[in-house]
Order: sequence, then structure tokens, then C-alpha cells
Amino acid sequence: MKLPSTLFLALFSSLFFIAISTYILPGSTLYASNLSQAWTSPNNNFSLRFITDGSAYFASIIYNGIPVWKAGGGDNSGGAADPSSSLQFLPDGNLRLVNGTSGTLVWHSNTAGRGVSTASLHDSGNFVLQNSTVPVWSTFDNPTDTILPSQNFTTREVLRSGLYSFSLSSGNLTLRWNSSILYWNLDSSSSVNTNLTSPSLRLESIGALWLFFDVSLPNGVILANSSDYAEGSDVLRFLRLDSDGNLRIYSSARGSETSTVRWAAVSDQCQVYGYCGNMGICSYNDLRPICRCPSTEFFDPVDSKDSRKGCRRKVEIKDCQRNLTMLQLDHAKFLTYPPELPPQLFYEGISASRLNCLYSSSCIASTALSDGTGSIYMKNSNFDFASGYQSPALPSTSFVKVCRRIKPNTLVGAWRLHPWIVAAIVIGTILSSLVLEGGLWLWFCGGRLEFRGYSGQYDHLKYASGAPLQFSYKELKGATKGFMDKLGAGGSGAFYRGVLANRSVVAVKELEAIKQGETQFRMELATISSTHHLNLIRLIGFCSERSHRLLVYEFMKNGSLDDFLFTRGQSRKSLNWEFRFRIALGTARGITYLHEECRDCIVHCNIKPENILLDENYNAEVSEFGLAKLINPNEHRYGTLTSVRGTREYFAPEWLAHLPITSKSDVYSYGVVLLEIVSGRRSFEVSAETNQKKFSVWAYEEFEKGNVKGIVDKRLADHEVDMEQVIRAIQVSFWCIQEQPSRRPTMGNVVQMLEGITKIERPSAPKVEAEGFDGETSVNVTANVSALSSFAASTQAPFPSSSFEDQEISYYVSGRNVEREISSLLHCENK
Ligand SMILES: *[C@@H]1O[C@H](CO)[C@@H](O)[C@H](O)[C@H]1NC(C)=O
Ligand SMILES: *[C@@H]1O[C@H](CO)[C@@H](O)[C@H](O)[C@H]1NC(C)=O
Ligand SMILES: *[C@@H]1O[C@H](CO)[C@@H](O)[C@H](O)[C@H]1NC(C)=O
Ligand SMILES: *[C@@H]1O[C@H](CO)[C@@H](O)[C@H](O)[C@H]1NC(C)=O
Ligand SMILES: *[C@@H]1O[C@H](CO)[C@@H](O)[C@H](O)[C@H]1NC(C)=O
Ligand SMILES: *[C@@H]1O[C@H](CO)[C@@H](O)[C@H](O)[C@H]1NC(C)=O
Ligand SMILES: *[C@@H]1O[C@H](CO)[C@@H](O)[C@H](O)[C@H]1NC(C)=O
Repeated sequence: MKLPSTLFLALFSSLFFIAISTYILPGSTLYASNLSQAWTSPNNNFSLRFITDGSAYFASIIYNGIPVWKAGGGDNSGGAADPSSSLQFLPDGNLRLVNGTSGTLVWHSNTAGRGVSTASLHDSGNFVLQNSTVPVWSTFDNPTDTILPSQNFTTREVLRSGLYSFSLSSGNLTLRWNSSILYWNLDSSSSVNTNLTSPSLRLESIGALWLFFDVSLPNGVILANSSDYAEGSDVLRFLRLDSDGNLRIYSSARGSETSTVRWAAVSDQCQVYGYCGNMGICSYNDLRPICRCPSTEFFDPVDSKDSRKGCRRKVEIKDCQRNLTMLQLDHAKFLTYPPELPPQLFYEGISASRLNCLYSSSCIASTALSDGTGSIYMKNSNFDFASGYQSPALPSTSFVKVCRRIKPNTLVGAWRLHPWIVAAIVIGTILSSLVLEGGLWLWFCGGRLEFRGYSGQYDHLKYASGAPLQFSYKELKGATKGFMDKLGAGGSGAFYRGVLANRSVVAVKELEAIKQGETQFRMELATISSTHHLNLIRLIGFCSERSHRLLVYEFMKNGSLDDFLFTRGQSRKSLNWEFRFRIALGTARGITYLHEECRDCIVHCNIKPENILLDENYNAEVSEFGLAKLINPNEHRYGTLTSVRGTREYFAPEWLAHLPITSKSDVYSYGVVLLEIVSGRRSFEVSAETNQKKFSVWAYEEFEKGNVKGIVDKRLADHEVDMEQVIRAIQVSFWCIQEQPSRRPTMGNVVQMLEGITKIERPSAPKVEAEGFDGETSVNVTANVSALSSFAASTQAPFPSSSFEDQEISYYVSGRNVEREISSLLHCENK
């Protein structure tokens, strides 16, 4: 009898001892100096103790050597304490972490005076301070970066790791950078059709991540499963916001000292905002994300030991006012998440992305998506942070603003020559080459042109280089005899005949309403003058002085095409078919060059007979390209009134419907012109002869009936006409004016079809009734389109005769992304 009772007593007292030992009484202290000292959970799975990363000490709850909670871990300091620090459970009930040497408070639970009488670390890993009846404070209610099974994570709690945070707001799980940039969002509202008043998130020990609709209700949905769901027996799973900004479920078998990732919120680590720091570029090396700088020439790593700290410019933008340039990064993007500015739609593509950023003082980097949307993301210096991602799979090109470095002069550097010697060599070289080339030139060409002195302004070297010359306003005023001889008025200003000092005849155009800066004007000039093609008008020079902006073009003896096509009367020589066909083909070739062959793709935006000029041999030269941008600089971003000058009748329907403008819009305008070349009549003309129908509509009907002769210009009746060419031209024009941009050929196709290289299919009716545009339309835009279709298809609304003139078309930009800047630099790959 006696033995069992002593046994029972011993058993009871030992049990009591264990139970007692799990309670921590006020006045207890843990010291960083003694890393083996710990407050342990009854099952020995968890312990609260100091750990160290080698420099700082942390008071942490540990499972398998893995910290799952840190005192002060959610603060900026991360709870870093010194080697002589201590975690004190004070008699007043407060739990605090104090640096030993200075005695400063690192963190505290703020539970003084709330009746806390005991503390304990539960088997679940929850460390609880409680009064005699209820918990007052717990680590589960004050998590740092980890959620353990059975822990309730509610809308009140936040997980933090460095600048990253994870939170739950109604039904959304969100990951943010610096409390603002939302780079990941799991919206459960689709699977939850009830209003979530107090949702909570819980990780089940078997590996399911549940969202409970209400803390007190058992119903909820599973948001994620760990890949080892319900496997293994003695496995602890936990959800952690890692320092790399990703949220992961880990599992760790007891005693294994290792943990394995079983689920990650962001599958593509490079999509985590700021992963590589400011200006850092994330990429993959064997599936492992690595961080680099955009270039070693312009950037230095902030910390050469930690590539994730980001990069800094060798010369800051603010220290570099004049020599800014854009560094191009292929297959790269800068991550853009709300609340940063949404992408802007320019339909202009890469070059616009570069230029818009270069000339925006607040822009530090930009990305142009090559996915056909024409979207451009601009990184604004207000955020002053750019997070890059580069991968061969990314369909985008990015630009970073950097300070152009002056290439060290190797001659000077290596030889340390005196500046005077260098200057002498340079001047000597220039002079001798001038003399030599001047001599050669005089030798070959001398006597043909008479110079009024050897004015540097007109020297042949500049002409030969193809770079536009700069004239003074006075010079051009003199050349045009005070702007007396007006040749005509284009969309952007009037043309005057002028004679330069070297006796060459030019057309001087005075641009109106130039609202942009000198630099951008010159950039545009560079674009225009870098296009050299037989069928594009050549820019000889320019003048930019105070408010005067003038362009000097070569003079085209035969004026513009409209004169020949539409001016009736005896005095006017009509063009025979051979010339007409050559003009059609030349125009198509010129536009093809703009679209497909020059470095910066240019969409003309204003193709019409008035802008097709004829030289003395009736070769067509397209003019007015690259000018739309000069007239309408991209200054206003949102919701502003934008106007565009042009001739409505030649505009593609998508233009009028405020849909993306692409090179296919030029194809449309070309198709209209081509029909006019064949018929000698305006395509939009309405007359009794055409049954009160728009000429192009009537022409299609006649063509279908086989009445080709009825379409061809009557003035060609007595001449020899290649009917095969005529039919080809008519068919091509019907293909070009297809309402659906995707059905129109490219300009390159047009050339081949006209030349007879490509077989032409029978064109379908250009106008497809009751059908919107494919792809790129939103609902209300489609509504606009159908309104427009009926307008365009209208047979009774004749256009006023003055409609041939340029008109100003204004419209409001609505919607945040709908950028309606009409610009010449449009995106060519776009459909
Ligand atoms: C405590 O000491 C650590 C390590 O020396 C230091 O990083 C931290 O700033 C100190 N905290 C306070 C509040 O003094
Ligand atoms: C314990 O705290 C709760 C809530 O703060 C309070 O209602 C209760 O009276 C306290 N009990 C004791 C013994 O102080
Ligand atoms: C949840 O996310 C959706 C978008 O995914 C958003 O429309 C909604 O406003 C968000 N809800 C809250 C409460 O943030
Ligand atoms: C984080 O945001 C604050 C303002 O909310 C800002 O002052 C700070 O510079 C940001 N941090 C970084 C690294 O950009
Ligand atoms: C959610 O609440 C809104 C108003 O707060 C209410 O209109 C809606 O019907 C509610 N939805 C459900 C599913 O209860
Ligand atoms: C979490 O919430 C559930 C349901 O309300 C509750 O049973 C459980 O005790 C809570 N867990 C903790 C650690 O508070
Ligand atoms: C910018 O360029 C000018 C000359 O073009 C030069 O004198 C100046 O030093 C440059 N500035 C910087 C910061 O490189």
C-alpha cells in the first residue's frame, strides 16, 4: 500500500514540477551572454532564448533552430540587441528587451500595470502573458514575420520583414513594399460570396492555408496548400514573410534542423518589388535570382558585398543638368505596381518611351512594352525607386536616365599633351581637310555653282554631310524676299518659295504653334533629317530663333499631287497613267521606308494628295512626315483637350474613334489616295453620278459589277492605260481601306501587290456593318465605333466642299490611360 502512494506522490510532484517550470514568474530574466538559457514549451518543441547572427543578438522563439518570432522583430531595428542585453519579465508585468551597455530599451510588450502575473510558452509556440484568468498579451497576437499553425492572423496584424509587409484586408491577402507598393494580391472575393467583417487567416498543421470568414465561425475557404499537404507526422509547417519579400509556407520535420519551401506567394521572385534594391536589375542564373546593376559604366553597387542593396549612378541626375542620356536595356522592365502611375498608352513605342523620359525632368527610367499595347511605364522620381527585371523572355525595352560620360581623350591621357598642342593639331587637321576637300570640290564642281563669297553657313561640306543646316531668321527672310511667294499652306504652316545664297531653290515652311522646347525641336529635326529616301522630301535646313521655327525643304517643281488630280480646266496638264502609277508606287515605297526601314519607325499620320509632291520628272516625294509630333508635343498626360490638324477624310476610322493609331492607319490613308490617283476624284465626294453615295462606296459596288472603266479617270479615256495595273491599283486600294486595321496589308505588301509580285485576293467590302474592331476595343469605345461607322457609311451626308481644307479636330481625353496625343513617332510593330 505504501509503495504505490510514494510512487504516486513522486509522480505527482515531478508532474507538478514540470508544470511549474513552464510558468515564468515576474522577475525572471534571460541574458544574451548565456545562449543556452531558455524558457521552453512543455513539449520542448519551442524555446524563447537569445540567438545571434554573429553581430547582433535577438530574443527569439525558436523551433528546430528556426526563429519564428523575435522581440521587436517588426520594428525598424528588427529587434537587434547587443551582447550584454537582456530580456526582462518585470514584476509590473512588462516584458522588455534592454541593451546592456547603454541600458536603452530596444523593445517592450507594453503590459505594465495590466495585472500580468505569469508568462508561459505554449506547445503551439505561443508565448503568453496573462493575469490570473485570461491572456493579456501573446506573441500570436503580435507576430513578427511568421505565422504558426493554430495562430489566428486577423486584419489587425501585419507581418514585416525589412521593407516588406504582409496583411489581410477584408478578403485580400496583400504583399507590399515600404507599406505602399502593392506587388502581390490574392483576392478571395471570387471564392467567398459573403461580406467579410472579421476574416482571419490560419495555417492548419497539415499544410492548408485557410481563410475563415469570421473568427467565431468555422466556415472558410482554403487559399493554398503546401506541396506536402497532410504528409509526414512530426512536421511543423509555418508561413513566413521572408526578407526577400516573398511569402512562403515551409515545413520542417522535428529535429531535422532544416526547412523546405512548400508554397510561395510570388512564383517569379524577380517580380518582387525592390528585390534588387534601387536601380538593381533582377535576372535568373540557373533558376536562382541574381541582382546586377544596369551597367558597370554608369552605376556602382551600393554595397559591393550585398548585391541586393541596389545600385547608384556614378554621376547623379541632379548633378548632371546638360549631359543626360538614356541607357537602353533590352528585354528589361521596371516593375510598376499600384499606387504608382498606371501605364500610359502612347502607341508610339520604344523611341517615345526614351524621349518622353529624357525630356521629363521627373522621369528617371521608363519601360516600353513590345506586346502590341504600346504601353509605356515612366518611373517618376517622386518615388525615387526603380526595381528592374531583365530576362530574354520579357517583351519590353527599358531606359534609364544617366549622365553621359565624357570619353577621356586617350591622346591627352596617354601623352599628357599641353592643351595648346592639342588645339593646334585639331585646328591644323580641320584646316588642311577643308583646304583639301575644298580644293577637290572646286576641281570637280567648280564653276557650276556660283557662291556669294565663301559663307560658312552654306559650305558644301555641310550639304554633303546630309545634316540639316541652321539658318538665321534674317537669312530665310531674305531668301524668301520677306515671305512673299506663298506656295501653299500645309497642316502645320505655310510654305514659301525661297532662293538660298548658293542659288538653290527651296521651300521654306513656317511652323505655327510650336509649343515645345528647343531640344525637342532639334530631336525631331534629327528624326526627319535622318530619313533619306528617294520618295521622301529632303530637309535641307531649319531655323530656330526666339519664337520662329522654320524648316527648309528642297523645292519641288511640280507642286503637289492634288493639283493634278482634282484641278480641272484646259490649263492643267493631266497626268497620264504611266506617271500616275509611278507616283502611286513611289509614294508607297516612301511610306514603306518610314514604317519599316528607318531606325525610328515613323507613322506619317497625314497622308493625302496635298502632301505628295512631284519633282520635275514627276517622281513622288512624300512630305510632312515627322511633323505631327512637332505640332503636338506630349505635354499633357491626363484628361486634357488635345487637338490634331489634318484632313478628316483621309483619317482611318480607328483614328476618329480614338483607338490606337498604328502604321495601318497610314495604310488606310494611302488607300484613299490610291483610289483618287486612279479616279481623279475625291474618294469622299458625293454626287448624282455616284447615286448620292460616297465615291469609294460607289466605286466598290461598280468594281464588283465589273465596271472598272467607270471608276477610272475620264481624262485617261483617250490615253493608253495598262488595265492590269489599274485593276491591281483598285484592288489594293480596297484592301487598304478595310475598316478593320488587321485586314489591311502592310505598306511593304502594298508595294509588292502594286508591282505584281504578290497575287492580290479579291477584296472584300471595305465596310463591314455592325461589326466593331477586333481586339483592342473596350465596351464604350466600340459604341463610338459603331456610331462612327454609320457616320462614315452614310450615303446622304455630303461633305461640305470646304472639307478638303485642313480642319482642327478636337476631342476630350477621358479615362486615365487613354492618351490621345497624335504623334508621328508611333509604334510600327503594333498589329
Ligand atoms: C542595441 O544594441 C544593438 C547592437 O549593438 C544596436 O544595433 C541597437 O541600435 C541598440 N539599440 C538601442 C535602442 O540602443
Ligand atoms: C484579467 O484581465 C481581464 C481583461 O483585461 C479582466 O477582465 C480581469 O478582471 C482580469 N483579472 C484579474 C484577476 O485581474
Ligand atoms: C481586393 O482586391 C481587389 C482587386 O484584386 C480590389 O478591387 C478590392 O478593392 C480589394 N479589396 C480591398 C478591401 O482592398
Ligand atoms: C518609404 O516610404 C517613405 C515615405 O512613406 C519614404 O520616405 C522612404 O524614402 C521610402 N523608402 C524607400 C527606400 O524608398
Ligand atoms: C455586402 O455588403 C454590401 C453593403 O455593405 C451589400 O450591398 C451586399 O449585399 C453584401 N453582400 C453580401 C453577400 O452579403
Ligand atoms: C483562433 O480562432 C479559433 C476560432 O475562433 C479559436 O478556437 C482558437 O483558439 C484561436 N487560436 C488562438 C491561438 O487564439
Ligand atoms: C557636360 O558637357 C559639357 C560640354 O558638353 C562639359 O563641359 C561638362 O563638363 C559636362 N558635364 C558633366 C557633368 O559631365
